[in-house]
Amino acid sequence: MTFDTLQVHPHAALLTGGQAALEISQPLGGIWRLRSRPLSGMNGFPPKHSFAVVGAQPLPFTSERLPGSFQFSAGATRLQITEQGSWQLWQEDRPVLSGSGSSGEWLPGSATRVYRSRLNLDAPAAERYFGLGEKTGPLNRRGLRYTFWNTDTLPHLPDTDPMYQSIPFLLVWSQGRVHGLFLDEPARSQIDLACSDPERLTWEVEGPELDLYAILGPTPQEVLERYTALTGRPAMPALWVLGAHQSRWGYSSAEEIRSVIEGYRRHALPLDAVHLDIDYMNAYKVFTFDPQRFPDPLALAEQAAEQGVRLITIIDPGVKAEPGYTTYDQALSAEYLVRTDRGEPLLGEVWPDPAVFPDFTRPEVRSWWGEQHRPLLEAGIAGIWNDMNEPSCASFHSAVDLSEVVGRTLPDSARHGTRRHLEVHNVYGLTMSQATFEALERLRPGQRPFVLSRAGFAGIQRYSAVWGGDNSSYWEHLEANLTMLLSMSLSGLSLIGCDVGGFGGHSSAELLVRWTQLGAFYPLMRNHSARGTRPQEPWTFGQATTDLVRGALELRYRLLPLLYTLMWRANQTGTPPMRPLLWHYPEDPIAASLSDSFTLGPSLLVAPVLRPEHRHRAVYFPSSGWVRVDQLDGQVYPAGFRVVEAELSTIPLFLAPGGILPLAEVAQHTGTAHWDKLTWMLNPATDGRFDLYEDAGDGPLEGELASLRIERHPDRIRLQRSGVAHPGEQLVLLGLPHGASVSASSNETEEALYIEPDSDWSELEIRF
Ligand code: GLC
Repeated sequence: MTFDTLQVHPHAALLTGGQAALEISQPLGGIWRLRSRPLSGMNGFPPKHSFAVVGAQPLPFTSERLPGSFQFSAGATRLQITEQGSWQLWQEDRPVLSGSGSSGEWLPGSATRVYRSRLNLDAPAAERYFGLGEKTGPLNRRGLRYTFWNTDTLPHLPDTDPMYQSIPFLLVWSQGRVHGLFLDEPARSQIDLACSDPERLTWEVEGPELDLYAILGPTPQEVLERYTALTGRPAMPALWVLGAHQSRWGYSSAEEIRSVIEGYRRHALPLDAVHLDIDYMNAYKVFTFDPQRFPDPLALAEQAAEQGVRLITIIDPGVKAEPGYTTYDQALSAEYLVRTDRGEPLLGEVWPDPAVFPDFTRPEVRSWWGEQHRPLLEAGIAGIWNDMNEPSCASFHSAVDLSEVVGRTLPDSARHGTRRHLEVHNVYGLTMSQATFEALERLRPGQRPFVLSRAGFAGIQRYSAVWGGDNSSYWEHLEANLTMLLSMSLSGLSLIGCDVGGFGGHSSAELLVRWTQLGAFYPLMRNHSARGTRPQEPWTFGQATTDLVRGALELRYRLLPLLYTLMWRANQTGTPPMRPLLWHYPEDPIAASLSDSFTLGPSLLVAPVLRPEHRHRAVYFPSSGWVRVDQLDGQVYPAGFRVVEAELSTIPLFLAPGGILPLAEVAQHTGTAHWDKLTWMLNPATDGRFDLYEDAGDGPLEGELASLRIERHPDRIRLQRSGVAHPGEQLVLLGLPHGASVSASSNETEEALYIEPDSDWSELEIRF
């Protein structure tokens, strides 16, 4: 691409040359957009409908022509583009990203109009690459390559790719500074991260355009704040969504659902939701219940509600092609279906066989689909689980050229209105979740929708929780899923989880215990397993395991004040609850290399046990002064690696200097959970502050904050409280020298100082 002409418009600049055009704009502060296209046969830039971007508010910037190059600047950032088309982005006079691109080359030998566009980036040896959402492999993706093409895939091996979701968002780490790149192209694309060429990163898209957003940092927090301002912030879940969920493919009658709930209650295991997998439907017809096995869904939902449990139903996109079935008849007559390139509705096979596929890219199809949910909501269903929405398709009844089919899905040439499937494949799940989310908002005003999706694209966080699909009951997956969830966290996703205990294969008692302990920290915690595997309800493993799992579930409910606050933060700023160490310690190269531990929020370090029979593990402390909180040991941990004990009954947890951890009492479900008797665990080694968010647990986000502040002096500590009061609260101070005196009722042990302040306290002083 070469450029010789610069045109300046109010909020965009256009560079054109012999073959290509590049449009430059600043859609939000700290973000530059570079959209390029071939000139031949096209008239400039047609308006684009982005499925991902919702928050652009173009800002003015300065454009200049310099000898041999063009320069665009705004505030402390500067984008320089040479006449040969290579570009460099500067922040405060430091170069941060550089590359070049070519868009719209013809794919040689292709019969249909297929394009390929390619972005090249310099990949200096010291750079590390993070993000890309749900991908297998290590957190740092340097030296690897990946495809973005939503795919129903099983089993998950270390190099299985692509997976169900495509989040074409990359974090570039260089010596502790982090910047982002987002390629807003839903067509199939491949990224090569210094794999084929150790000095080069390439990103190839099967489409005529490259729509690139370069996002400035230099902290992960700033990049994610900007990226989620652009693609949308995570929807705030109702409190019950953060409770424990139980699911299984194979719960095939109302009786069985009742007995699962009864089992939870009989064993005093906390539970908030049960998922109804495909077995509840009548012949896999979505929006129906089997009349024999689920004769009275409303009664079932009401009985569950009496136990504090909500029901969630699975809804797949494949609609059974059966004349007389209303959903099918309506879709067919209104022409809402994906078509073959010959124009007839495409017939494939999912669970229903034959099945047709609604075209969710069209708004009228989304609102029609949304309406279909009305009977489910009338039957008391609380949330919707969207599965198989890559979309997954096992075989075809329509005549299809199989060379056009990549993975278990629809052919590239299938039609979504005027678009080819190739162009919109990766947003199928996103638009289906949008339809579901908007329907729940519309049909049940005042309640926050709960949607869980398997497939996704950038922006899925606006509508839906996502989970990592069909993992297996392998110890290796316990660890691999953790890395994947941390990667998803670095990609704008917050309400995330993986099947606790593993979906495929037979879980063991110990694996279920360790997985539930780690799952207590997943923003979405669901035990789910496949038909044909051994049952995975905790009590099926015996009393000792049930007791251990109960401990982990109770820990989950104690963490709810923190989790709820973190989801609210995610909703306000895009900051994910689960954070790899690099989030808070980007300048520490060791912290940036770790994915077997993480923080939940700013200061709680979680070091799960990921191997069978291990009762110890190594933990890395990025600074000195951490204290242990899962069991109080009176120690203050220095910086660096330490081996810590981890009996089967516990998951090692540590609080950072200045860290504050609010804990609720245990509860059987969120309906009875309350924060009255809050325990605040504090590590007052340094100053600190925590703002706890509280509201009604659902409905509008009109909550209040309860703030606790630590002021550390050499010989004393001042604690200050403001905002919402918790009459029965207790303070537990860790890591203090012995013999401290405090102006409130207190009790000192070897490990901690316990304080029970007056209910209206606002300030306390601790002297030693
Ligand atoms: C898919 C889902 C899984 C579900 C199964 C049956 O494999 O990923 O969670 O249980 O379909 O619906």
